[in-house]
Amino acid sequence: MEFAVAILSKLLLTFSSFGSNAGDPTLRAKCLDLKSGLNIENTTILDVSYLPKASKISTLGTCQSKATHSAPFCRVQFHTNTSATSGIDAEAWLPDEWFGRFMGLGNRGLGGCIAYDELDYASSLHFATVASNNGHDGDSALPFYQNPEVLNDFSFRSIHVEAVVGKQIVEAYYGHPQTKSYYVGCSTGGRQGTQTALKYPEDFDGILAGAPATDFNHLVHWTGMLSRFLGSPDAASSPSFVSPKLWTFVHKEVLRQCDGLGGVVDRIITEPDACDFRPETLLCRPDLTSSKSCLTTPQVEALRKIYSPLYGLDGELVYPRYDPGAESSPLIGFTFSGEFPPYTKQWLQYVVLNVSDYDVNDYGLKHGALIDSVDAGDIATFDGDFSTFRARGGKFLSYHGRADSIIPSGNSKRVYDLISRSLSTPNLDDFYRLFLVPGMDHCAGGLGASKFGQLPGTQARNSSSHNIILAMVDWVENGVAPDSIIGTASDRTTRAHCRYPVRSLWNGSDFVCEDAR
Ligand SMILES: *[C@@H]1O[C@H](CO)[C@@H](O)[C@H](O)[C@H]1NC(C)=O
Ligand SMILES: *[C@@H]1O[C@H](CO)[C@@H](O)[C@H](O)[C@H]1NC(C)=O
Ligand SMILES: *[C@@H]1O[C@H](CO)[C@@H](O)[C@H](O)[C@H]1NC(C)=O
Ligand SMILES: *[C@@H]1O[C@H](CO)[C@@H](O)[C@H](O)[C@H]1NC(C)=O
Ligand SMILES: *[C@@H]1O[C@H](CO)[C@@H](O)[C@H](O)[C@H]1NC(C)=O
Repeated sequence: MEFAVAILSKLLLTFSSFGSNAGDPTLRAKCLDLKSGLNIENTTILDVSYLPKASKISTLGTCQSKATHSAPFCRVQFHTNTSATSGIDAEAWLPDEWFGRFMGLGNRGLGGCIAYDELDYASSLHFATVASNNGHDGDSALPFYQNPEVLNDFSFRSIHVEAVVGKQIVEAYYGHPQTKSYYVGCSTGGRQGTQTALKYPEDFDGILAGAPATDFNHLVHWTGMLSRFLGSPDAASSPSFVSPKLWTFVHKEVLRQCDGLGGVVDRIITEPDACDFRPETLLCRPDLTSSKSCLTTPQVEALRKIYSPLYGLDGELVYPRYDPGAESSPLIGFTFSGEFPPYTKQWLQYVVLNVSDYDVNDYGLKHGALIDSVDAGDIATFDGDFSTFRARGGKFLSYHGRADSIIPSGNSKRVYDLISRSLSTPNLDDFYRLFLVPGMDHCAGGLGASKFGQLPGTQARNSSSHNIILAMVDWVENGVAPDSIIGTASDRTTRAHCRYPVRSLWNGSDFVCEDAR
């Protein structure tokens, strides 16, 4: 299972020479030649530079002013027109020590921001990597307002364009095309990876899609409804609001009821779907009325709704429930601050209703139905037909934290089952594997064994057993499919994460993956 260093060395296609401050003179010349030597349709080369030693660099766009890089590389900044009224800003990072692989990167939230930390991480793993601003700058839906082509970039086009243009830049620089191409993203990036497998199945041989924001319209609506259930901190108008302090208290009760279900009491809920959390135990009693240690009936009613699946006007399932356990997250304010969630408000206002101003006071199920029926930009990304991606030999890896406070992990199970039904196959092991990560928050973080190389800062060990990007490479290039992924927690303990629907069970001394199919 270990991704042998020998295999990597064999694939090493390098011109490198480290140690010199000026870097490799041949590479420097080749790199700077790209400034005039690239002629790619619809594409303007903004700048080209050769960066032989680790440093801080200035960035494209308005999201951040500085970024860092570690590996020596050739940097190409470019703009590609994607239509008459839209375009992406993007960067290709071409490391001196290249292992022959191409990587495209995704985005986050409603962004709009080049993932510089991910560019640096991917180059350190020796991928030639491209990341873009997804067609607009900043984490807002305002750029989509009356501009459907900018929305199309966000919904499905920017990753395709970065792959098409990025591969041409790679070939021009190294003198030959990539051996294999990969995609990595989380959250919106997970949705982009999913969308790419559906709409442009030829673009990538391997796709890693973390905590995907799939069934996007319903996710946006669910987030709005959860916020409505809770209300605002203004207690007079909204007695149901639960303050951050009270959430700590709720979390304790969730753990009291469900922590032990996994076989061991470790503050991590292995299978939140097995947790039949009963918030009524928190109700104030006559002898216990301090607001610190008990909840009012409206508060408990709100919790009931939050921890139940959301159904729509016709009784259809809209979105799975909030995962019990996720309420301990430092990100809890994203949905439960008391302010109506900005993503939901902006999406409804700028993309669905197309109005410059909108008051969300009456937000309810009918808005969800509208968001869904408009499905602006074909954003839904809820389609099980992976047949073309599968037939072309593509490999798809996904992961989802089971204490994800932004997107419930139940949605990834639901997508897996949707694909299963769509392809009429009981499991997707031959091309699609979903790893559920107990105790992990959105994309990373949390008490669980949440470090498995999925993102910058999560690299515990450089091997395919512990790094899901290397596992993807091993699957695509050597046919070695990952049965589990070993994550490392902040306290350095490790745990094998199981692929759905294989279950993670405590055998008395350790968690093991048990295939009950
Ligand atoms: C991109 O579009 C702009 C505006 O339409 C145009 O001026 C420019 O020439 C285009 N660039 C390329 C490389 O096609
Ligand atoms: C270049 O842009 C035009 C429209 O802006 C589009 O029709 C064409 O397909 C683009 N070319 C490529 C290679 O993407
Ligand atoms: C993993 O580590 C080995 C040994 O340090 C190194 O040679 C190899 O390049 C690393 N692999 C990646 C993908 O970084
Ligand atoms: C808003 O624009 C989108 C396309 O960008 C369209 O599908 C939708 O119907 C429009 N909404 C209204 C209320 O006109
Ligand atoms: C539990 O699983 C671990 C890891 O596979 C194994 O080493 C151990 O022997 C198992 N314990 C029992 C009681 O089966």
